[in-house]
Amino acid sequence: MENNIVRLAVQKSGRLSDESFDLVAQCGIRVNRQDHRLKASATNFPMELLYLRDDDIPEYVAAGVADLGIVGENLIIEKQKEVRTIKTLGFGKCRLSIAVPRSLNYESKRDLNGLTIATTYPRSLSRFLEEHGIKANIREIRGSTEIAPSVGLAEAVCDLVSSGSTLLRHGLEETHVVFESQAALIASNQLSPEKQSVLDRWLFRLDAVLNARECKYILLNAPDESLEQIVKTLPSLRSPTVVPLAEEGWSSVHAVINENRFWEVLEQLKDLGSTGILVCPIEKMIIDDEVLP
Ligand code: PRP
Ligand code: ZN
Repeated sequence: MENNIVRLAVQKSGRLSDESFDLVAQCGIRVNRQDHRLKASATNFPMELLYLRDDDIPEYVAAGVADLGIVGENLIIEKQKEVRTIKTLGFGKCRLSIAVPRSLNYESKRDLNGLTIATTYPRSLSRFLEEHGIKANIREIRGSTEIAPSVGLAEAVCDLVSSGSTLLRHGLEETHVVFESQAALIASNQLSPEKQSVLDRWLFRLDAVLNARECKYILLNAPDESLEQIVKTLPSLRSPTVVPLAEEGWSSVHAVINENRFWEVLEQLKDLGSTGILVCPIEKMIIDDEVLP
């Protein structure tokens, strides 16, 4: 019984913590979140959460101590552990970048030659420098990378950037993006068939949640003369639902629409004479052979 329970490693406290926890909760998995604890069991799903430092998650999953992990791609790339990336999760977006003090009057990559660059990402940085034929020194540090230039530890940094405010506060200017990153779900390469089937059950729910996040449900009233055009304008799962209104000459149209194209489509719908447009969030969305609108 015990060995059917999958252990999911999540960041204990940091950038990914809240959203990792919310994602599990939105999949209907109930876990009591108590910050001081190292692990917690779900009450209605065979899952246990392990709260770890994000830097340790790839290693714990590779070693099979945790079966699954939610961690930034940045650490998956840097740590080079034997794990499977199951899917990206759409949050925790950031990039690993090289930055220099604004006072340096930096012009091009060549200016990095001979500099010492402080980072907690030595592997990724080293690969980038090699690929670009830059001869710089890497100083591996444990944290607080952004202060390295001001305390004389290095002349440049290679660190994660999300809003960019940390760099700005420390007088640093981003010069090169090493890679882009977001949170991802990773799995051990040695899942038992029982645990794999628990993972598959969870993935079914996860897809429903992630798909729904990308889409909105839209309802509107369409005058019959432009109904055909309006239906064509609306992307949908299969095709929009059209129901006649009590008032003659009008129909109600329902469709699912992707957040990316949302405003653009909305403008077109208004131009075509749609009225009473309602837009609602979708909580879960299960799609089989249909593709996302
Ligand atoms: C990263 C990075 C910066 C900050 C940048 O740290 O080391 O300190 O985020 O974010 P900003 O551009 O929005 O200011 P993170 O929170 O990931 O901590 P960690 O690397 O120590 O886990
Ligand atoms: Zn960290």
